[in-house]
Formats: sequence, structure tokens, C-alpha cells
Amino acid sequence: MKNLILFVFSILLIISCSGGEKKEKKEKFKYERIKEVSEKIPINNPNDFKVILNSFDNMIYDKNKIEVNSGKNIVLTLNHKGKVSKEFMGHNFVLLKKGVNVDEYAKKAVLAKSNDYIPNSDEAIAYTKMLGGGESTTISFLAPEPGTYNYICTFPGHYMMMRGELIVN
Ligand code: CU
Repeated sequence: MKNLILFVFSILLIISCSGGEKKEKKEKFKYERIKEVSEKIPINNPNDFKVILNSFDNMIYDKNKIEVNSGKNIVLTLNHKGKVSKEFMGHNFVLLKKGVNVDEYAKKAVLAKSNDYIPNSDEAIAYTKMLGGGESTTISFLAPEPGTYNYICTFPGHYMMMRGELIVN
């Protein structure tokens, strides 16, 4: 009888211990989940800096200089005002990091047809998809540290004509 009481007592002890442990784990999990929530930049923020860049069938952008302030959220809309399809007259906007050799990057881009002419590298700060005539797209990115940055269209043969400078103040 004494042994039975001891046995029941030890079972109860084990159950209560493991229960406590479970509770602790649950609380820890909750805490970590709260930490995971990240802040997001709201869409249509009045502080956004909007840029409209137009492109045409004659392989030009309407701007070869865009000036912005460092740290601003840039909302850039690229319009293709032409009529020719993406296969023959595709246009995009690719903003390159400082120090990236434009000619070398453009060469790599030509080989990346399956990826909309965006090479698999970390040399771009931001880029749009490739557009055909009549299409538009909008991207947003944070203006980098002050300096001058090159942007190009990476469709084969276009960057010689379709290029400009993003000046960050
Ligand atoms: Cu182009």
C-alpha cells in the first residue's frame, strides 16, 4: 500500500513537472512570434518621391537625369509609350550600384534572356520588369547614399542610347 501511494505520488510529480515545462515553451513561442512582425512602408505615403520615366519605340528614355534625396522612398513608374512588342523593343529600368561597370553589366544582361535580361548578380539596386509597347509598371525602392548612380535599359543593344544618371543628394 505504501509503495502504491509512493508510485501514484511520483506519477503526479512527473505530470505536474512536464505540464509546467509545456506552459513555459508556449509562452516563449508567443514572444518570438511577436518579435517577427516587421514594419512595412505604407503604400501611397505622402512623403514618397514619385518619378515618371517614359520610353519609346525609338529606343530613348525621356529623362537622362533624375534627382532625388537620400533616404526617400522612390516610387518609379516606367511607361513604354511605343507600339512594338516586348520581344523586339522591350524596355526596362535597371539602377546599378556605385562602381558597377555599365558595359560589363550590359554584356551579362544580354545572356540573361530567360530572366528578362536581368543577370543573376547583386549589382542592381532596383529594376523593373521588361515592358512592351503600351505597358507600364511601378516599383519602389529606398534612395541610396548620396552619389551618382547609372540606370540603363538592359534589352540587347539598348543601353548605349537608353541610359541616365540618378543623382542622390
Ligand atoms: Cu530598351
